[in-house]
Amino acid sequence: MESGKMILKQAVVGPMMNFVYLIGCSETGEAAVVDPAWDVPEILKLAKDSNLKIKHILVTHGHPDHVNGLESLLQATDAKVYIHSDEIEYMKAVAREFGMSTDFVTRRSGNFKKVSDGEKILVGRLSVECLHTPGHSPGSLCFLVEGCLLSGDTLFVDACGRVDMPGGEPEKMFRSLNHKLRDLDDSIVLYPGHDYGGSPTSTIGEQKKTNAYMNFSSVQQFLRAMG
Ligand SMILES: [Fe+2]
Repeated sequence: MESGKMILKQAVVGPMMNFVYLIGCSETGEAAVVDPAWDVPEILKLAKDSNLKIKHILVTHGHPDHVNGLESLLQATDAKVYIHSDEIEYMKAVAREFGMSTDFVTRRSGNFKKVSDGEKILVGRLSVECLHTPGHSPGSLCFLVEGCLLSGDTLFVDACGRVDMPGGEPEKMFRSLNHKLRDLDDSIVLYPGHDYGGSPTSTIGEQKKTNAYMNFSSVQQFLRAMG
C-alpha cells in the first residue's frame, strides 16, 4: 500500500500467521518495523526492495511470536525500539518462561525507548501515534499512522486477542475495544497482528458492524462471551 508520503508493507510470517509490517516515509526513505518476528532476513529484504532504511522498531506487545526477531533485527540495524512502559518487564518475564534469553534488552538498553498513550513517534516525516490498549497484555499498543491502525493482538478482523494468558485482563480489553478503538473514525483501515480473519485487512467502520467483540453493550456480556 502506498498513499501520499507513506509506504506500508504487510507480510505474513511464522507458523501462527503473524503479520509483520514495514512503515516507510517515501520522502526520507526512513522506515519502522512493527513486530519483528520469525523471519528477519525476509524483513530486511522487504526494506531493501522498497529502498527503505530501518531506523525504528515498534512493538505492539511482548509475546514471543511478535518479538522473537527483535534481537537479530537490532543487531542488523541498531534501530530504536519503542515499547509501552508497562510491557518491557512483562516481555522479559514471558521470554524467560519460554527459556529465551533477555540479556540483549539490558545490553541494548540505550536502544529502548518506553512510550505511553498518546505519544507520537516520528518515522521520517510520518507521525505515528501510540494508543495504549491493554487487555491482551498490560502494555499492548496500537499504532495509528496516516489513517491506518496497526492493532497487534488487540483487534483482529472479526475477532480479538486472547485475554486468558498471564497479563490478560478481560475488563481492560472490553474498554480498549468498545471505547478506545470504537471511538476511532470509521474510515480508518485496520492492519491486525495475525491473519486470522476472512481478509488480511478491514476498516474500523466494518469492524463496528461485524466484529462481535466490539458490539457488547456491557462488560458483563463481554466477560460471559470470553468465558
Ligand atoms: Fe499476543
